[in-house]
Amino acid sequence: MKDTAPVHVKDQSAVEDGHAGVRGRNTRTPTLRLLLTLALSGLILGLASCGKGDHADADGSSTSTSTSRPRPAEPIVAATPPMGWNSWNQVRCHDLDEAVVKQAADALVRRGLKDLGYRYVVVDDCWQAPSRDSAGALVADPIRFPSGLESLVDYVHDKGLKFGLYLAPGSETCAMHWDDYAASGIGSYRHERQDAEMLDELGVDYLKYDWCRADETDGLEHQKTFGLMRDELARLDRPIVYSISEYGDTKPWTWAPKVANLWRTTSDIIPFWPSVASIIDQQAELHSFSGPGRWNDPDMLQVGNGPLTPDETRAHIGMWAMLAAPLMIGTDLDKLTPDVIDALSNPEIIAIDQDPAGRQARRLRSGETEVWARSLADGDMAVALLNKGDGPAEISTTITEVGAQPGSWSIRNASTRKDLPATDGPISETVAPHGVTILRLYS
Ligand code: GAL
Repeated sequence: MKDTAPVHVKDQSAVEDGHAGVRGRNTRTPTLRLLLTLALSGLILGLASCGKGDHADADGSSTSTSTSRPRPAEPIVAATPPMGWNSWNQVRCHDLDEAVVKQAADALVRRGLKDLGYRYVVVDDCWQAPSRDSAGALVADPIRFPSGLESLVDYVHDKGLKFGLYLAPGSETCAMHWDDYAASGIGSYRHERQDAEMLDELGVDYLKYDWCRADETDGLEHQKTFGLMRDELARLDRPIVYSISEYGDTKPWTWAPKVANLWRTTSDIIPFWPSVASIIDQQAELHSFSGPGRWNDPDMLQVGNGPLTPDETRAHIGMWAMLAAPLMIGTDLDKLTPDVIDALSNPEIIAIDQDPAGRQARRLRSGETEVWARSLADGDMAVALLNKGDGPAEISTTITEVGAQPGSWSIRNASTRKDLPATDGPISETVAPHGVTILRLYS
């Protein structure tokens, strides 16, 4: 399979065991650290080569066609969670046009977000004209995209960014389904190869393939249908990140690691704290399914939209980073308030999200206040103290609770970017309502 193939860890327990019991400063020797680093690089190279030579069947199963000849390692598609901008949470259907997309691309560059890793510019639903052309090809709505998609893709690429596009597997996209969207959207049903080839010809780097009731409208079955497009993408020479969306309905984390690079785990996020908090809650049991090239997707960011407060904004981004989630902004980048741009631009939070080991955090304690932790590729630990309550709360944890070996750990508050006193015992912080404090423990 070409490098569009989703990469999966064949024995997840081995990966989990490989980093269990990360050692503290007093016990981790330079030799051990070097061995750990080498082991991790071996794992990453192993993952990289796992993509090539594996033939994935439409039913989601995978047959190895590898020979004994050594193959060069290839980069993993979506080796870290994709970051960028997507039109949906900003303009939905109503105001989608080429000007909005160009404006977002310009702003990603101008506001320094591109340099921080926000690279994908994804055009979501409602981009299409009402019918295919005489050759059966999808056509962009000429009113919304008068210059055509090809020139838009070039515009985005010329800025050093990557381009993403939305399709749906049934006969219609969600736009066609909902009258109030007042837009068109034809699905890829029975045109999968043609539409995949169109992505290739246009130079698309990212496909969002959104279910939109394809079971009801066309009697389609999820795994087989998403597997069909996976196989069409695999025929292309172009690496295309394959993002699928069926709202978590069929527990895609149990089958999609063999099919896609990311899969939605929940229904649509809305820009209100209860939606954000509920989505965080729904991720707690999913940590073992994600990793480099195969991510749980708790949906796109809503920061900058609705009544999310600065603390809720930081909690939304901070927890998405703990979850190793894609960070797709969906708001007007020219109108970001200082709180939102600061939260989106915190390099220490982004570094946790983009950690190359790609281990999604585990929830260690649940309730109104929660503790989540993930170990990072260099042996550091990231810890979230999350306050879901309506008043400030003192949240405490310990080095042992977060799964680190006892020893003296230096502690950095990654949310405020300030050092805290080193400790081998309890760690306590007062956390704002609907807020989070993200800590990085390092040796
Ligand atoms: C939904 C999807 C949203 C957006 C929308 C477009 O099904 O979850 O993220 O893509 O369709 O119609």
